Amino acid sequence: MAGWIKQLKSPVAVLLGGNSSEREVSLQSGEAVLKALQARGVDAVAVDTADAGWLSRIENDFAHCFIALHGPGGEDGTVQGALEVLAVSYTGSDVMSSSLAMDKLRCKQLWQGVGLPTPDFSVLTAETDFERVMERWTSAIVKPAREGSSIGMARVSNAQELSEAYSLAKDYDSLVLAEEWISGPEFTVAVLGDSALPVVAVETDNAFYDYQAKYFSNETRYLCPCGLNEKDERRLQELAMRAFDSLGGRGWGRVDFMQNEQGDFLLLEVNTVPGMTSHSLVPMAASAMGMSFEDLVLEILHLSIEENE
Ligand SMILES: Nc1ncnc2c1ncn2[C@@H]1O[C@H](COP(=O)(O)OP(=O)(O)OP(=O)(O)O)[C@@H](O)[C@H]1O
Ligand SMILES: [Mg+2]
Repeated sequence: MAGWIKQLKSPVAVLLGGNSSEREVSLQSGEAVLKALQARGVDAVAVDTADAGWLSRIENDFAHCFIALHGPGGEDGTVQGALEVLAVSYTGSDVMSSSLAMDKLRCKQLWQGVGLPTPDFSVLTAETDFERVMERWTSAIVKPAREGSSIGMARVSNAQELSEAYSLAKDYDSLVLAEEWISGPEFTVAVLGDSALPVVAVETDNAFYDYQAKYFSNETRYLCPCGLNEKDERRLQELAMRAFDSLGGRGWGRVDFMQNEQGDFLLLEVNTVPGMTSHSLVPMAASAMGMSFEDLVLEILHLSIEENE
């Protein structure tokens, strides 16, 4: 067992579940993380943030947390803020970068400001002239600004569909975006510490990489090596690091991209707590460079402990 594990000041709480729409995914990520930590001799305990009194439990019994929460109320800086107040160490990004990454609109505005490429977009409200928005693009995708797992999203190709998709998305978030449809292919880049892992290409026969394609379909294809030439893969990894750093990201994360017909890579979003089930994308990228799931989990925890030393 590594020396730093023996020196941990308390058991490690794996925060999982919670109340977001991604609760089920988080329970799976958290269980996988818990098993991996325990397999490597870390005294780890699951704590569901949907349970009353979870924060007092942390305050009383834990000095370290592994955050395996996805979506609002866990990935968005709120839990990170509570842990800062308690002076408990936690994995991944801090309060500011977590909340920024959760908000696709603010990310896109920031990336435009620093000259990083992201698809053209428009904020939708009840007052939006949907006809006018659709004059700009042949096809678009509508998304709640602060969700994950493709929840509340739809592809549209006319004003009527745009208006219907807006109505669907606004049930998930008061802030809704329409983004120009990018043909693909789609890529994702895992970040661990200061480096980008091998790029993964994602292929689906669905209209896009939706909830069903992410968690249920056996038809979704993940390619690693991703099929890009070496120069393009490096370029994409560099872009991922710049996007992650521009938000102030820390420890680990995953950056999602689409490539357009001209070959440009466009930033979709940064996930600060990506899925961590055994078949998730970050573990897949780690495995491509010979890093096991257990090693990956341990490294994410170790990075968060070093941060606090
Ligand atoms: N502009 C776009 N053009 C084409 N497809 C897109 C576009 N934006 C998103 N998609 C598709 O929708 C999927 C989900 O989009 P995005 O990554 O922005 O949302 P998310 O719900 O936060 O995802 P995650 O589960 O990774 O947190 C993408 O993986 C991609 O397949
Ligand atoms: Mg995504």
